[in-house]
Amino acid sequence: MKLILLGAPGSGKGTIAEKLAKEFQLQHISVGELLRQEAQSGSEMGRIIKQTLGTGKLIPDHLVIEIVRLVVKGKNNFILDGFPRTVHQAKDIQDWPIAKVIYLKITEERAVERISGRRICVKGTHTYHIKFIPSKKKGFCDIDGSKLIQRDDDREEIVRERFKVYAKKTKPVIDYYRELGLLTTINAANSPEKVYQDTRKELVEPSYQANG
Ligand code: AP5
Ligand code: MG
Repeated sequence: MKLILLGAPGSGKGTIAEKLAKEFQLQHISVGELLRQEAQSGSEMGRIIKQTLGTGKLIPDHLVIEIVRLVVKGKNNFILDGFPRTVHQAKDIQDWPIAKVIYLKITEERAVERISGRRICVKGTHTYHIKFIPSKKKGFCDIDGSKLIQRDDDREEIVRERFKVYAKKTKPVIDYYRELGLLTTINAANSPEKVYQDTRKELVEPSYQANG
């Protein structure tokens, strides 16, 4: 099964993708995470990515497409978290047999509240929220015990830029998939457990209507 997960910054893409990946045995491909790793790698591509990554703007389409194509090569079961993010990227993969595009819908106000309390482990793999999804031991990851930190691009002025870019470049991708009849909208404002249950029901019982 090939899935796409779309939504505003802080809508909960990473949180839901991690759970779906576990239950449905899909590879979780977080494109933001791949880009952060590439930026740290010291490669020439990483150097170019680094210039843009912390600014809230998008990495050029051709670089992101190259990275994603390399990672998905030969894989049949995956969930793409945060890709495609432009209509150009969506058209580039139009021949991929995508089972569903899940859109996590949320207001900007609520998403900002989530981002401001987000903490990730230094390895970048596990995500918490100081109020909504706290770790058992304050400041440390439950899974690998590493320290919890804030993401560089979670500063207020960068978050504002990420929302601007989302409205301009990624909302048209949502319309694109809606027109293709592939889009399923989930109310992402609910609790983590409710959002997950609504999403998984859409995969196992496609007629289920999460939004009534
Ligand atoms: P990326 O890392 O993908 O950032 P984003 O899209 O801004 O999304 P976030 O990771 O901030 O949020 P999320 O939706 O994953 O929410 P999360 O689960 O963490 O991309 C970063 C950058 O990379 C981009 O700005 C761009 O520069 C570049 N990039 C990435 N993809 C690209 C592409 N395709 N093309 C070009 N450039 C690209 O949840 C947020 C918080 O809320 C957490 O603290 C979590 O614990 C909590 N939470 C989650 N669900 C709930 C809930 N239901 N209730 C309460 N709290 C919740
Ligand atoms: Mg994420």
